[in-house]
Amino acid sequence: QVIHAEALKKVVGYKAVDDYVRSGMVVGLGTGSTAYYAIQRLGQKLQEGKLFDIVGIPTSTKTERHAKSLGIPLVTLDSHPVVDVAIDGADEVDRRLNLVKGRGGSLLREKLIETEARKLVIIVDDSKLVEGLGMTGAVPVEVIPFCWRHTMRRLLGLECLASCNVSATIRSENENIYVTDNNNYIVDLFLEKPIPDIVLAAQQISEIVGVVEHGLFLNMVDLCIVSGKDGTRVIER
Ligand code: A5P
Repeated sequence: QVIHAEALKKVVGYKAVDDYVRSGMVVGLGTGSTAYYAIQRLGQKLQEGKLFDIVGIPTSTKTERHAKSLGIPLVTLDSHPVVDVAIDGADEVDRRLNLVKGRGGSLLREKLIETEARKLVIIVDDSKLVEGLGMTGAVPVEVIPFCWRHTMRRLLGLECLASCNVSATIRSENENIYVTDNNNYIVDLFLEKPIPDIVLAAQQISEIVGVVEHGLFLNMVDLCIVSGKDGTRVIER
């Protein structure tokens, strides 16, 4: 089963690079176990000379290390503000290709970079496809460490989540609070019922002062490559 799951990730990771990356492009490099395979493929094609003149923009320090180990030249948005294509995984994908991201902790850099992508390609296996966002796990929210308990209370008090039976935890790792690449914390919101209005929720969450960014990625995705036991398909927005 584990091998099967890995195979599904590899198929979409490779396909994203093969179908959407061309020589000369600036490529946003996602984070997670599926994006891992896209980075592998990109590194491989550069080494083989099948792609050239590519630069990557990593969405986390982990991806940065991985890409460097493969010899992929890296830049940042500061020098390269236009990203030709970004390839990333997701935790949940709904029918409109809205996403939950950030269960791996990298949502802020992912959103910063993927917002600038001319084409955002999301790669998932079909277990990530959902009817309503936030039902298979947390909706992560990156917050500043200062007064995080207060920020968490403000999140729990949001009108737009009142019907969702929301609860929250501060993300931890090895019994310490988990710290993001940006030295922030993550509040994980758990919902028992779907968010009635995700656009309003995204807006109200962002408006809380201690919130840096949240894992609802709305109206950003151009296409999603989905793998399952019956094969691979592309869903376009
Ligand atoms: C990282 O913070 C996340 O947004 C990942 O993109 C997401 O968790 C998907 O990761 P997997 O491909 O490992 O499921």
